[in-house]
Amino acid sequence: MQQPLVIAIDGPAGAGKSTLGALLADRLGYLYFDTGVMYRALTLAALQEGVDLAVPEEVEDLAARIVIEVAPPREADGRQYTVLADGVDVTWAIRSPEVERGVSLAARYPGVRREMVRQQQAIGRRGRVVMVGRDIGTVVMPDAPLKIYLEASLDERARRRAIERRQQRDPRPLDEVRFDLARRDDMDQHVLRPAADAVMLKNDGLSPEAEVDWIMDYIAGRAG
Ligand code: DC
Repeated sequence: MQQPLVIAIDGPAGAGKSTLGALLADRLGYLYFDTGVMYRALTLAALQEGVDLAVPEEVEDLAARIVIEVAPPREADGRQYTVLADGVDVTWAIRSPEVERGVSLAARYPGVRREMVRQQQAIGRRGRVVMVGRDIGTVVMPDAPLKIYLEASLDERARRRAIERRQQRDPRPLDEVRFDLARRDDMDQHVLRPAADAVMLKNDGLSPEAEVDWIMDYIAGRAG
């Protein structure tokens, strides 16, 4: 295929979408856009402003007001990008356990999704972008020339998340991590399905570099 100007990567939590997306964008010289940060930034703002996450109208109203930007990294502290919510750097704050617990609920509301999708499409249409999320290939950029649906078993995803936690000096028991992932799979079910023309990639035991090589081969028409 011709080099695709938009690459959509979808799949469940912990499947390695962010690692793959960032590596692939780097290899191609594209923008890496992790769309989950928008739902997270909205959730953080709701928690900070005392907006009740259980009331759809309140959260949808906030979604229409808040300006979320994803910019190149502004600090050399291991970040892949900088996330700004109304101009404030929230890059690390959106990874807190409170946000993690609330985000699936906020992401369920149709008014929230409409607004986030609209903003994501504006960025996607500029092209030369690797977009990572749950519904990129199905809803946000259904015309993306290359769609990848990344899968890994629950055990593998839990194992990777547990290692990540340890590296972030916030260790969690494997059972707890696995339980949280299974819960998020449930909560994300409403958006989580591969596009009919997505390339299915199961990556148990595959390194991110090997995945990127495979995708580059696929683009060049060489992959089996
Ligand atoms: O990928 P993540 O863990 O940062 O995503 C955070 C939440 O946002 C997760 O509950 C799923 C939701 N999400 C979504 O519904 N659609 C997207 N395109 C990206 C994320």
